[in-house]
Amino acid sequence: AAKSLLATPPMGFNNWARFMCDLNQTLFTQTADAMASNGLLAAGYDRINIDDCWPLHKRAANGSLQWNTTLFPQGMPWLGSYLKQRGFHFGIYSDAGTYTCGGYPGSLGYEEIDAATFESWGVDYLKLDGCYVNPFKTEKYKQIYSHWHDVIGRMSKPMIFSESAPAYFSGNEHGNNTDWYDVMDWVPGYGELARHSDDIPVFRDTTAWGGVTTNYDFNTLLARYQKPGFFNDPDFLIADHPKLTLTEKKAQFALWASFSAPLIISAWVPALDKETLEMLKNERLIAINQDPLALQATLVSQDGKWDVLSKSLSNGDRILTVFNRQTQNDKLFVPFERAGYPIDPSGTQKYNVTDLWTGKSDDSATKGVTSNVPGHGVQVYRISPLYNTGRDTVVPTG
Ligand code: GLA
Repeated sequence: AAKSLLATPPMGFNNWARFMCDLNQTLFTQTADAMASNGLLAAGYDRINIDDCWPLHKRAANGSLQWNTTLFPQGMPWLGSYLKQRGFHFGIYSDAGTYTCGGYPGSLGYEEIDAATFESWGVDYLKLDGCYVNPFKTEKYKQIYSHWHDVIGRMSKPMIFSESAPAYFSGNEHGNNTDWYDVMDWVPGYGELARHSDDIPVFRDTTAWGGVTTNYDFNTLLARYQKPGFFNDPDFLIADHPKLTLTEKKAQFALWASFSAPLIISAWVPALDKETLEMLKNERLIAINQDPLALQATLVSQDGKWDVLSKSLSNGDRILTVFNRQTQNDKLFVPFERAGYPIDPSGTQKYNVTDLWTGKSDDSATKGVTSNVPGHGVQVYRISPLYNTGRDTVVPTG
C-alpha cells in the first residue's frame, strides 16, 4: 500500500498465548465486553484478533475456508459486527503454507479466495503465519508474502498485514544469521508488522521470563527496520502468565512500550487484577509506545547486569529505559549523555525527569538519573531539558 495503515503500533487482544486452541465465540465477546468496561478500549486497545484453530478442517465445495460452527455458532460476520459495534477492529489468522501451525487448512493457492472471505466477514487485520512452506527457503517465503501483499492491495477495503516470515529464520540471536536479516530486509515492503522471533511462552509453560528476555534480545537487533508504518513484533504481552511476577510483567510492558512494539494482550481479560490493569493502562508509557516518531529505543549500554536504552520522542524529549537483568534489586546512575544530551561545561543545565511508572517529576537534575530498580525490573524516564533563564525560574522547551 502507498500509505501505511498503521502510523503507530497496533494495540489489542489475541487469544493464542493464553488459550491456544481452546477458543470460542464467547471468549471473544466476553473479552471485548471486558475491554470496553475496564478502560482498556479507551486506553487504545481496540483490536480483537483471533488466532489459529478457528476453521473447519475442510474447505467448502467452492474452496472457501469455513468457521467451526460448534465454536462459533453465530459465525464470523456476526462476531465481526459485534466487535465493530463496540468500537473494535477484527483480526484473523491464516498461514502462508499448506497448513496452519495447528494443522488447519493453509492459504497457499487460495490467497484471493481467502482474502475475499476475510473481507466479507469484516476482517481488517491478517496475521499470516509461516508453517508448512515448501521448500523451506527465504525465496519461497518472499514469493508468497509478496503475492499476499498484492492480493491485499487489490481489496476494496484496507487490511493490515502481519507477517510471521522472519520468525522462521531467527536461529541466532547474536546477529550473524544471514537468512533472518534477508527476510527482515523485505518484510517492511509488504506489510505493517512482522513477528521476528520465538513464540512468547504460552500459559501452561513452566517458565516465562526467559522467553520474554529472548524476544526482547532479538528485538534489540532490529531497530533499524522500524518506522511509522512498520513495526517489529516481539509477540504478545502475557499479562496473566502464572510464572511471571508483577515486576516481570511490568518489565515486559515497559520494554515493549520503549520499543514502540505492538501491544497485543494475550490474557483472560475479564479476570485481570487491579495492578495489571493499571499497568496496561499507564498513559505515560502508552504515549511513548504510540509516539508519532515510532522509533524503537536502542541499547546505549549493556554489561550483563544492566541494559540501558534510549530514544527520541516527537516533542524533542528523550527517554531512558533502565533494565536490571539481575535477580536482586540494584541501583544505577545513568548520566544524561547516555540519552544523547551534550555535556554542559557550565554544569547549570537542568532537566525535568519524569518517572513514567509513577508520573513523579523532578526539575533539579543536572547530571543524570539515579535509578533504583528491582531485580528483573524496568524503569523508564522521560527527560526534558529546561532552559536556564538566569533567574530562579525555568521554562520547558518545546
Ligand atoms: C505459531 C505462531 C503462534 C501461533 C501458533 C498457532 O506457533 O508463532 O503465534 O499463531 O502458530 O498455531
